[in-house]
Formats: sequence, C-alpha cells, structure tokens
Amino acid sequence: MPTMRPMAPRFATPSSSFGPFEIPTNLVCAWQDGRRDWLVTLPGIVRQVAEAWSLSVGSPFQPGGSTAWVAPVQRPDGGDLVVKVAMRHPEADHEADGLRLWKGEGAVRIVATQEFEGATALLLERCVPGTMLKQLPEPAQDEVIAGLLKRLWCDPPAGHPFRPLQTMCDNWADQFETKVGPNRPPLDQGMIRDGIELFRALPASAERNVLLATDLHAGNVLSAEREPWLAIDPKPYVGDPTYDALQHMLSCEDRLHADPRALAARMAHLLDLDHDRLLLWLFARCVQESVDCPTLAIVARQVAPT
Ligand SMILES: Nc1ncnc2c1ncn2[C@@H]1O[C@H](COP(=O)(O)OP(=O)(O)O)[C@@H](O)[C@H]1O
Ligand SMILES: [Mg+2]
Repeated sequence: MPTMRPMAPRFATPSSSFGPFEIPTNLVCAWQDGRRDWLVTLPGIVRQVAEAWSLSVGSPFQPGGSTAWVAPVQRPDGGDLVVKVAMRHPEADHEADGLRLWKGEGAVRIVATQEFEGATALLLERCVPGTMLKQLPEPAQDEVIAGLLKRLWCDPPAGHPFRPLQTMCDNWADQFETKVGPNRPPLDQGMIRDGIELFRALPASAERNVLLATDLHAGNVLSAEREPWLAIDPKPYVGDPTYDALQHMLSCEDRLHADPRALAARMAHLLDLDHDRLLLWLFARCVQESVDCPTLAIVARQVAPT
C-alpha cells in the first residue's frame, strides 16, 4: 500500500482574528512523530502572547525550524520583531538566558519571554533580510562562524543558570548506550567503547570553560542590519570551547567526508584551538552520532586516535 504523506495541518484557532493557523513545513514532522499534543497548543499560545505583548502576527517563516514556530510580528510602535514558540527540550532550556547575557553582541537581542507548559515563547529582534549563512560558500561560512563563536565565548557570571557541558555529553552518551543494542553502528566494539569513553571524559579536561552556543551552524546564523550576521537558536552550556566547533563541521558534510582532518585544521586555526584536541572531540562526537547517522562512522574511522 502506498504511504500517504500527511498534508501540512492548518488549525481553526480560538480567535477568529487569527484565521487558519499555518504550520511551517519543517514542523509538519512534529505531527508525524508524536508531538501532536504540542502542536495543537500552538494557536492558543500565539494568541496569548500576541495579546500580552500587543503584537500583530504574520505568517510563520518557511520552511521554518523543526522544534519551534517562528513568525514576524509587529508592535503598535512599528517595531519589527519575531515571536518564537519553542518546544521544551533539555538542550534549549537556557536559550533566553544566553541571549540575555550576550546582549545582542553577535546574537539576536531578546525582548521578552513567557513560559507555558511544554513551550517557551520568546520575543526576539528580527533579522532583516534574514538570509541564512548557508547561502554562502562553506569557506566563507567558516570565517563567519569562527568570528561569532569567539565573541560568544565569555566567562559566565557567578550564580549563572547554565549547566555544564558534561551534563549534555553524559546524557547523549547514555542515550547512545540505550540505542546501540538494536542499532549497532558500523564500527568495531573497541572503537565504540573508546569514542563514548572520550565523549564522557573530554569535558572534564578542558583548559577553560566558557559560555557555549553548542548549536551554531550556518542554518542558525542570519543576515541582519545591525551586524552583518547574527546567531539565533543557541543551546547554551558552559564548557570546553573546542566542542563548539563541531556543529558547523558536522553540517559541512562534503568537506567532512572528503578530508575531516583538513576541516579540523582549518577550524582550529580560525578559532585558535588545539588541533589535536579538536580531532579527539570530532572522533568522539562522530562515534556518538553514528548510532543515528551511520555515515559518520566513516568519519570516526578517519580521525580515530592511533
Ligand atoms: N530572529 C529572527 N529573525 C528572523 N527570522 C528568524 C529569527 N529567528 C528565527 N527565524 C526564522 O525561523 C526559523 C526557525 O528558527 P529557529 O530558532 O532556528 O528554530 P528551531 O529551534 O526549530 O531550529 C529560522 O530558520 C529563520 O527562518
Ligand atoms: Mg534552528
């Protein structure tokens, strides 16, 4: 029987002034993978924050993100902002705290937040024109990403709310161990053990610990007027800056597979990081990801410590 692809759902909202509620393409997967309950709360949340913050709300950005509903909004004073209603998930817990601390230096400014059960609403500076850094050739992306990361890495103040990178790595290593039974990646047992041990051990041997973005890649950097490029969508943790180079490297798939050592050398140079330590992180992360993305096992084998 052919598989039917569900159409993007539209909801009739409780407020008629909202008309049909549009779900961006990338969020439609949420409908298919069990996040329906969260999706159906969206129109009500958008209506509440529109009222609380006096916003007129436009159509959501397309294709949008996979964990958030984001749309341009306008305030009565004419201010152009965006509203982001993000699904609660552990890595995103401190997005608002990070943006507040960075005060617009390399990342979008945050204007307000409101917590809901299962979701956080953020009122953010709008990036105009908002073109994704992905549109640029990858070598140019490397330089922008490196420039932003170096500005975002700062010492968090005493009493800060951010969790250590160790917590995220331990959680991901635990998840790997739960999944690895039925889904064994194409790596030998010794390499799997070394990679996961390293993924748990590296956070503790960092020379310095700074505020990290942890999810900075060229899809989370938008062109703007106030600065040429601004970071959006951070998942802040405190830990080893070397870790922060990985997300961009993993998104440069062709170069990563063709010559992962050369890509690591370039990013280590641009970010003033230790090349060998970045290779260890790349190996550990590729092993950890290989359970969901088996092609990363090939990269893990290329950069495995000898
Ligand atoms: N501050 C902003 N200004 C303009 N567009 C934005 C802004 N924040 C998000 N967007 C748009 O919404 C999309 C999804 O936002 P993002 O925060 O990356 O969500 P997700 O957490 O689901 O990845 C972006 O790809 C972009 O098109
Ligand atoms: Mg994103």
